[in-house]
Amino acid sequence: MQTVISARGPLKGTVRVPSDKSISHRSVIFGALAEGRTRVENLLRADDVHSSMDCMRGMGVQIEDRGEVIEIKGRGLFGLQEPVDVLNCGNSGTTIRLLSGLLAGQGFLSILTGDGSLRRRPMARVINPLRLMGAGIDARGDGNYAPLVVRGGGLKSIEYTMPVASAQVKSALLLAGLYSEGGIDVIEPKATRDHTERMLRAMGAGLSQDGERIRIRPVEKLQPMEITVPGDISSAAFFLVAASLVPGSEVLLPGVGVNPTRAGIVTALRGMGADIQVLNQKEEGGEPVGDLLVTSAPLRGITLEADIIPSLIDELPVLAVAMAVAEGESRVKGAAELRVKETDRIKAVCANLAALGVDITETPDGFIIRGGRGFAGGTVESFGDHRIAMAMGVAGLTCRREIIVRESEAVSVSYPGFWKDLDSAASV
Ligand code: S3P
Repeated sequence: MQTVISARGPLKGTVRVPSDKSISHRSVIFGALAEGRTRVENLLRADDVHSSMDCMRGMGVQIEDRGEVIEIKGRGLFGLQEPVDVLNCGNSGTTIRLLSGLLAGQGFLSILTGDGSLRRRPMARVINPLRLMGAGIDARGDGNYAPLVVRGGGLKSIEYTMPVASAQVKSALLLAGLYSEGGIDVIEPKATRDHTERMLRAMGAGLSQDGERIRIRPVEKLQPMEITVPGDISSAAFFLVAASLVPGSEVLLPGVGVNPTRAGIVTALRGMGADIQVLNQKEEGGEPVGDLLVTSAPLRGITLEADIIPSLIDELPVLAVAMAVAEGESRVKGAAELRVKETDRIKAVCANLAALGVDITETPDGFIIRGGRGFAGGTVESFGDHRIAMAMGVAGLTCRREIIVRESEAVSVSYPGFWKDLDSAASV
């Protein structure tokens, strides 16, 4: 499928963005380990979360879908069954990495795989520390690519300093730590999203944090939860940028998660001159939530460096769109992790923006954009990556001629209704 977008009038009104993908995965996976039923309201309905649900069902977990609410019948920490088939994680890095940690603790054999993109993503980052804990885990390409074969059980205690900033790896280790002999310590020099820590703590896991050190100790059981999943700030990001760029826009995004480990997009856009207000901030289910009100404003260039990158890593493609319109030069540094996402997002952003007439230079760990020229129009590729497709959709709203986004169906990974929502928010 391809989608054609051309310049539009101001964005107005309220957009209810889909539920948080990271929290949805964790609700399904952790809920399955609890002693009793976990109720999840507003679970994200998108391909990635369906992959997590299918994998958990493959290990005997019953998940009842009641529309607004889903109920997970927890099997307890030691109740998962050996899957009778390969577990297919689809396009989802979070599913495969979190499950590799969980399965490292199970006394059975399992095989994890995924689609073409997932099978090209690095897994040594999670396999190596799990092997240090004593897990029998192997993979294609000298232990780096899925399919992964896990023969779990008998895990030892370790102290592990994270060489890459990755919430997926951290979460995998914390899950494995639940099954280790004496627990583990994970040292995280660069903070990443902490949804796992918040949720496991709420479920009664023996988890504590002291600065960079996160410690988990085994417990007998986890408590079930009642979770309401907030809106996904990574999906809200497309409207934060779109409404900032199109003059005369004002958009309200209610009930969006504003966890500080995720909200770097708000800091970065404000640093560029954007007008974003966080209203009615409260805590819901252990996560900060607020209504985001964004009004259009002229943007200027910015430099984003390693310290802020983990809190906006998924938003860099759409931030690049904002940087192309902003006056002056922008630089993204210390973001080499972008090269190992659903696609090489540095290459994808540079190829697409150059095709639209933007002055952009690729660097090993980011890009440099000389902004202010905006977009001429043309054909761009999603490279099968949901966030590249949506970022290009936002570019289309301000381009001089139309933009054609190829393989635009990729949005279904995190935001199946994106094209419809973008169309209804923007006036003709
Ligand atoms: C995620 C962590 C991030 C992020 C991904 C979701 C998570 O990946 O890019 O979209 O839910 O833990 P890394 O852990 O690889 O940085």
